[in-house]
Amino acid sequence: MIVLALETSCDETAAALYDARRGLLAGRIASQIAIHRQWGGVVPEVASRNHLLQLRPVIDAVLAEAGLGLDAVDAVAATAGPGLATSLMLGLSAAKGLALGLGKPFVAVNHIEGHLLSPFFPRTPEEAGAAIPAAMALIVSGGHTLLVEIEGFGVYHLLGRTRDDAAGEAFDKVGKLLGLPYPGGPAIDRLARAGDPRRYAFPRSMLDSGDFHFSFSGLKTAVRYTLPKLGADARLEDVCASFQEAVVDVLVEKTVAAARARGRRLVAVSGGVSCNARLREAMRARCGAGGLTLRLAEPALCTDNAAMIAFVAAHQLAKKGASAMSADIDPNLSLV
Ligand code: KG4
Ligand code: ZN
Repeated sequence: MIVLALETSCDETAAALYDARRGLLAGRIASQIAIHRQWGGVVPEVASRNHLLQLRPVIDAVLAEAGLGLDAVDAVAATAGPGLATSLMLGLSAAKGLALGLGKPFVAVNHIEGHLLSPFFPRTPEEAGAAIPAAMALIVSGGHTLLVEIEGFGVYHLLGRTRDDAAGEAFDKVGKLLGLPYPGGPAIDRLARAGDPRRYAFPRSMLDSGDFHFSFSGLKTAVRYTLPKLGADARLEDVCASFQEAVVDVLVEKTVAAARARGRRLVAVSGGVSCNARLREAMRARCGAGGLTLRLAEPALCTDNAAMIAFVAAHQLAKKGASAMSADIDPNLSLV
């Protein structure tokens, strides 16, 4: 079973070919970050226009890389939501058209489920047939911060979410405050490596709230009020490291507490922010000390990609069958 998947929910145009028995055959991501950087964020109409330009090239590239023709494709999948309406439309329409033309099943995939299951993406052909294990999952992306208990494929319980900004959004907004290029996350990650995380005491919002929800807008405001008070000797690296440490502390503590509360021994972390070096290091240390097993999404699968969409589509086809051709985009699609 070979799945061709397309991902166009935001500013990455991605295609992947995934074999349910062998794993990833090929993946391509055409990033629009450089295009949107001049506006300081994603401009939806510009994004959709570029998806239109990039879709055909990324599809051709994965087929060429795998040495396959479209006739080898057994199903065509695309992200149906959540995301930007005009961007989602491009990938979903292209996938439906291809499926219809090839006479093959079409699969509409939830982008959040793509991130959620990405830590379980097979790393070897032997892992390709494995079932999705029970786990406590943290998804930290530009649009979402979610704590989800996974019982198995398709059985998810939402334990916590952000009350305001998503973790990635906080990185991007603080990056903007600091005059860093969009997106702020990777830039802060890099600068923080040379900074002192204890130089500024930023708030750990909702750390002791007794639930599994998050809030990051207070932290962003704390950084905003700190900046004008900084002396001439202040280092940008220290501000980045201190801000990042506050985000990481809350993410790690809440995830471990949720795993404990629900008796889960396996922790899975995914989404763009899970690329963050300090988050990966702290999660490893904390899970190790707490006797928990950690599955971090591979760095290449943390930010938006089509491999994770193909992976979900393969499971979906096996468990639930194809989607209806009438399945539409849903910019606000939720996981549960
Ligand atoms: O998962 P993703 O590609 O898109 C969404 O579905 O939202 O996540 C993008 C987010 C951005 O906010 C970006 O700043 C953040 O992930 N990000 C990072 C890092 N790499 C990407 N945040 C912190 N550290 C990083 N290394
Ligand atoms: Zn995403």
